[in-house]
Amino acid sequence: MTDPRTRIVGEGYDAMGEHFAEWSDRIVGDPRRWWAEQLTSRLTDGARVLELGCGSGVPDTQLLAERFRVTGVDISPEQIRRARRSVPNAEFLVADFAAAEFDPGHFEAVAAFYSFNHVPRELLAGLFGRIRSWLVTDGLFLVALGTGDTEGWVGEWLGTTMFFSSFTPETNSRLLEDAGFELLLDEVVSFLEPEGEATFQWVLARR
Ligand SMILES: C[S@@+](CC[C@H](N)C(=O)[O-])C[C@H]1O[C@@H](n2cnc3c(N)ncnc32)[C@H](O)[C@@H]1O
Repeated sequence: MTDPRTRIVGEGYDAMGEHFAEWSDRIVGDPRRWWAEQLTSRLTDGARVLELGCGSGVPDTQLLAERFRVTGVDISPEQIRRARRSVPNAEFLVADFAAAEFDPGHFEAVAAFYSFNHVPRELLAGLFGRIRSWLVTDGLFLVALGTGDTEGWVGEWLGTTMFFSSFTPETNSRLLEDAGFELLLDEVVSFLEPEGEATFQWVLARR
């Protein structure tokens, strides 16, 4: 069942529509491409990739769908509508990925770009465990995690109401290891959003 805080997230991204993409275009120094390449360089063509919180599908779903069989998941019907238009060669689902279930051992990789800082943080431990179960043996998980010690924040963001939640990098790493992941790369990276510096923890982990 979808958590009411996650409903706030979905309604917020629905209301934002094109505005989120315009805001994203003004980010300077976003390391997402480098991290995506750390994942894609380790996968073979045709690998099954699940993307959690794919948004409008640009740029990451588009990049992944050039070589892989991609399933993108997002809670916002409006963002999924845009994604289906921009990336016709991927499959998309409107769903809460924190409540979704997939077949065990079904994906060679799971990727999440800037979506996990919207997940109520007490759900992360269980979610990491389920993601690991969806992966094949040696499957990969790439994720950009929030870094603040924030149980929950609701407020105005990009002209709408939004929810954020996160643990510190030390806790994030421990939860991933407790779920059984081996951390191949684990770095805290800052860059410039239009309003100022933003910091995320990027992790590439192996089942
Ligand atoms: C900051 S946007 C990032 C979108 C895209 N990955 C990108 O990097 O441009 C976060 C996205 O994650 C989605 N999201 C957050 N929590 C979610 C959840 N529990 N289930 C599904 N989608 C979620 C939001 O709807 C939104 O589209």
